[in-house]
Amino acid sequence: MTGPDLRPAVMGDAPRIAALHALSFGDAWNAGSVGALVETPQSSAWVAEEDGRIVGFLLARKAADEAEILSIAVAKEMRRTGLGRRMLAHLLSDCSGSGIAAIFIEVAEADAGAVAFYDATGFRVCGRRRAYYRDRPPGANDALLMRLDIAAADAP
Ligand SMILES: CC(C)(COP(=O)(O)OP(=O)(O)OC[C@H]1O[C@@H](n2cnc3c(N)ncnc32)[C@H](O)[C@@H]1OP(=O)(O)O)[C@@H](O)C(=O)NCCC(=O)NCCS
Repeated sequence: MTGPDLRPAVMGDAPRIAALHALSFGDAWNAGSVGALVETPQSSAWVAEEDGRIVGFLLARKAADEAEILSIAVAKEMRRTGLGRRMLAHLLSDCSGSGIAAIFIEVAEADAGAVAFYDATGFRVCGRRRAYYRDRPPGANDALLMRLDIAAADAP
Protein backbone atom coordinates (compact mmCIF):
# COMPACT_ATOMS: atom_id res chain seq x y z
CA MET A 1 0.00 0.00 0.00
CA THR A 2 1.43 3.36 -1.00
CA GLY A 3 -1.12 5.63 0.70
CA PRO A 4 -2.29 9.09 -0.38
CA ASP A 5 -0.46 11.00 -3.11
CA LEU A 6 1.89 13.74 -1.98
CA ARG A 7 2.42 16.79 -4.15
CA PRO A 8 3.24 20.50 -3.86
CA ALA A 9 0.21 22.55 -2.79
CA VAL A 10 -1.33 24.92 -5.31
CA MET A 11 -3.55 27.96 -4.87
CA GLY A 12 -6.72 25.97 -5.62
CA ASP A 13 -6.05 23.73 -2.60
CA ALA A 14 -6.38 26.65 -0.16
CA PRO A 15 -10.06 26.15 0.79
CA ARG A 16 -9.55 22.43 1.49
CA ILE A 17 -6.32 23.09 3.43
CA ALA A 18 -8.15 25.75 5.47
CA ALA A 19 -10.97 23.26 6.17
CA LEU A 20 -8.52 20.63 7.47
CA HIS A 21 -6.72 23.31 9.48
CA ALA A 22 -10.02 24.30 11.14
CA LEU A 23 -10.71 20.67 12.07
CA SER A 24 -7.19 20.26 13.50
CA PHE A 25 -6.64 23.47 15.47
CA GLY A 26 -8.62 25.85 17.65
CA ASP A 27 -7.69 28.89 15.56
CA ALA A 28 -9.08 28.65 12.04
CA TRP A 29 -7.05 30.10 9.15
CA ASN A 30 -9.11 31.39 6.28
CA ALA A 31 -8.60 30.22 2.70
CA GLY A 32 -7.25 33.65 1.72
CA SER A 33 -4.39 33.57 4.20
CA VAL A 34 -3.59 29.93 3.35
CA GLY A 35 -3.59 30.84 -0.35
CA ALA A 36 -1.25 33.78 0.27
CA LEU A 37 1.15 31.44 2.07
CA VAL A 38 1.03 28.84 -0.71
CA GLU A 39 1.68 31.50 -3.31
CA THR A 40 4.65 33.18 -1.69
CA PRO A 41 7.86 32.28 -3.54
CA GLN A 42 9.59 31.34 -0.25
CA SER A 43 6.98 28.74 0.62
CA SER A 44 7.39 25.00 0.70
CA ALA A 45 3.84 23.71 0.86
CA TRP A 46 2.72 20.11 0.50
CA VAL A 47 -0.55 18.26 0.48
CA ALA A 48 -1.55 14.63 0.76
CA GLU A 49 -4.58 13.80 -1.34
CA GLU A 50 -6.74 10.71 -1.48
CA ASP A 51 -9.87 10.32 -3.63
CA GLY A 52 -10.00 14.08 -4.18
CA ARG A 53 -9.80 14.81 -0.47
CA ILE A 54 -6.93 16.63 1.21
CA VAL A 55 -5.96 14.44 4.17
CA GLY A 56 -2.73 16.20 5.14
CA PHE A 57 -0.84 19.41 4.61
CA LEU A 58 2.48 20.93 5.57
CA LEU A 59 3.07 24.67 5.18
CA ALA A 60 6.61 25.96 5.60
CA ARG A 61 8.47 29.13 4.75
CA LYS A 62 12.10 29.36 3.72
CA ALA A 63 14.20 32.39 4.65
CA ALA A 64 17.93 32.60 3.96
CA ASP A 65 19.44 29.38 5.32
CA GLU A 66 16.53 28.44 7.57
CA ALA A 67 13.00 27.17 7.16
CA GLU A 68 10.07 27.25 9.54
CA ILE A 69 7.10 24.91 9.61
CA LEU A 70 4.09 27.21 9.97
CA SER A 71 1.54 24.44 10.20
CA ILE A 72 1.20 20.72 9.66
CA ALA A 73 -1.81 18.48 10.12
CA VAL A 74 -3.08 15.09 9.13
CA ALA A 75 -6.78 14.13 9.11
CA LYS A 76 -7.64 12.39 12.40
CA GLU A 77 -8.45 9.02 10.89
CA MET A 78 -5.15 8.99 8.94
CA ARG A 79 -2.82 9.80 11.84
CA ARG A 80 -0.02 7.39 12.76
CA THR A 81 0.11 6.03 9.22
CA GLY A 82 3.35 7.78 8.33
CA LEU A 83 1.84 10.71 6.44
CA GLY A 84 3.39 13.40 8.64
CA ARG A 85 6.77 11.75 8.20
CA ARG A 86 6.30 11.53 4.42
CA MET A 87 5.38 15.23 4.12
CA LEU A 88 8.38 16.15 6.23
CA ALA A 89 10.63 14.12 3.92
CA HIS A 90 9.39 16.26 0.99
CA LEU A 91 10.15 19.44 2.91
CA LEU A 92 13.61 18.11 3.79
CA SER A 93 14.49 17.30 0.23
CA ASP A 94 13.22 20.71 -0.94
CA CYS A 95 15.27 22.43 1.79
CA SER A 96 18.46 20.49 1.20
CA GLY A 97 18.29 21.50 -2.47
CA SER A 98 17.90 25.16 -1.44
CA GLY A 99 20.97 25.48 0.79
CA ILE A 100 18.92 25.46 3.98
CA ALA A 101 20.74 24.30 7.12
CA ALA A 102 17.96 23.93 9.66
CA ILE A 103 14.19 23.66 10.03
CA PHE A 104 12.42 25.17 13.05
CA ILE A 105 9.02 24.58 14.60
CA GLU A 106 7.26 26.19 17.53
CA VAL A 107 5.04 23.72 19.34
CA ALA A 108 2.97 23.79 22.53
CA GLU A 109 4.78 21.70 25.13
CA ALA A 110 1.39 20.42 26.27
CA ASP A 111 0.71 18.89 22.81
CA ALA A 112 2.43 15.65 23.69
CA GLY A 113 1.54 13.95 20.39
CA ALA A 114 3.00 16.76 18.28
CA VAL A 115 6.15 16.97 20.43
CA ALA A 116 6.56 13.18 20.13
CA PHE A 117 6.19 13.47 16.34
CA TYR A 118 8.94 16.09 16.07
CA ASP A 119 11.16 14.16 18.45
CA ALA A 120 10.67 10.95 16.42
CA THR A 121 11.59 12.78 13.22
CA GLY A 122 14.85 14.20 14.56
CA PHE A 123 13.89 17.64 15.90
CA ARG A 124 15.51 18.69 19.16
CA VAL A 125 14.39 21.33 21.67
CA CYS A 126 16.49 24.48 21.32
CA GLY A 127 14.44 27.04 23.21
CA ARG A 128 11.35 27.72 25.28
CA ARG A 129 8.90 30.63 25.30
CA ARG A 130 7.29 30.73 28.73
CA ALA A 131 3.54 31.40 29.00
CA TYR A 132 3.47 31.88 25.23
CA TYR A 133 -0.09 30.69 24.56
CA ARG A 134 -2.67 33.00 26.12
CA ASP A 135 -5.54 30.59 25.36
CA ARG A 136 -4.00 27.77 27.43
CA PRO A 137 -4.00 27.40 31.21
CA PRO A 138 -1.01 28.60 33.24
CA GLY A 139 1.54 25.82 33.67
CA ALA A 140 0.57 24.28 30.31
CA ASN A 141 1.12 27.24 28.04
CA ASP A 142 4.83 27.16 27.21
CA ALA A 143 5.99 26.89 23.60
CA LEU A 144 9.00 24.81 22.71
CA LEU A 145 11.21 25.86 19.85
CA MET A 146 12.52 22.74 18.11
CA ARG A 147 15.21 22.49 15.46
CA LEU A 148 16.12 19.90 12.87
CA ASP A 149 19.68 20.17 11.62
CA ILE A 150 19.43 19.13 7.98
CA ALA A 151 23.03 18.00 7.64
CA ALA A 152 22.56 15.61 10.55
CA ALA A 153 19.07 14.44 9.54
CA ASP A 154 18.40 10.94 8.33
CA ALA A 155 15.51 10.59 5.95
CA PRO A 156 12.61 11.10 8.41
C1 LIG B 1 1.46 15.90 14.52
C2 LIG B 1 0.89 15.18 13.27
C3 LIG B 1 0.98 16.11 12.05
C4 LIG B 1 1.70 13.90 13.02
O1 LIG B 1 1.30 13.32 11.79
P1 LIG B 1 1.17 11.72 11.60
O2 LIG B 1 0.94 11.46 10.16
O3 LIG B 1 0.16 11.19 12.55
O4 LIG B 1 2.62 11.24 12.04
P2 LIG B 1 3.38 9.89 11.55
O5 LIG B 1 2.39 8.79 11.37
O6 LIG B 1 4.23 10.24 10.38
O7 LIG B 1 4.27 9.60 12.84
C5 LIG B 1 5.69 9.45 12.78
C6 LIG B 1 6.18 9.10 14.18
O8 LIG B 1 5.97 10.23 15.07
C7 LIG B 1 5.60 9.74 16.38
N1 LIG B 1 4.23 10.16 16.68
C8 LIG B 1 3.34 10.74 15.83
N2 LIG B 1 2.19 11.05 16.47
C9 LIG B 1 2.34 10.63 17.76
C10 LIG B 1 1.49 10.66 18.90
N3 LIG B 1 0.26 11.18 18.86
N4 LIG B 1 1.99 10.16 20.06
C11 LIG B 1 3.23 9.65 20.14
N5 LIG B 1 4.10 9.58 19.07
C12 LIG B 1 3.64 10.08 17.89
C13 LIG B 1 5.69 8.23 16.32
O9 LIG B 1 7.01 7.85 16.67
C14 LIG B 1 5.42 7.96 14.85
O10 LIG B 1 5.95 6.74 14.40
P3 LIG B 1 5.11 5.35 14.68
O11 LIG B 1 3.67 5.63 14.34
O12 LIG B 1 5.77 4.38 13.75
O13 LIG B 1 5.30 5.06 16.13
C15 LIG B 1 -0.61 14.76 13.50
O14 LIG B 1 -0.70 14.03 14.71
C16 LIG B 1 -1.59 15.92 13.58
O15 LIG B 1 -2.13 16.35 12.56
N6 LIG B 1 -1.85 16.45 14.80
C17 LIG B 1 -2.79 17.55 14.98
C18 LIG B 1 -2.21 18.85 14.49
C19 LIG B 1 -0.91 19.18 15.21
O16 LIG B 1 -0.78 19.06 16.40
N7 LIG B 1 0.08 19.67 14.41
C20 LIG B 1 1.37 20.07 14.92
C21 LIG B 1 1.29 21.44 15.46
S1 LIG B 1 2.87 22.10 15.85
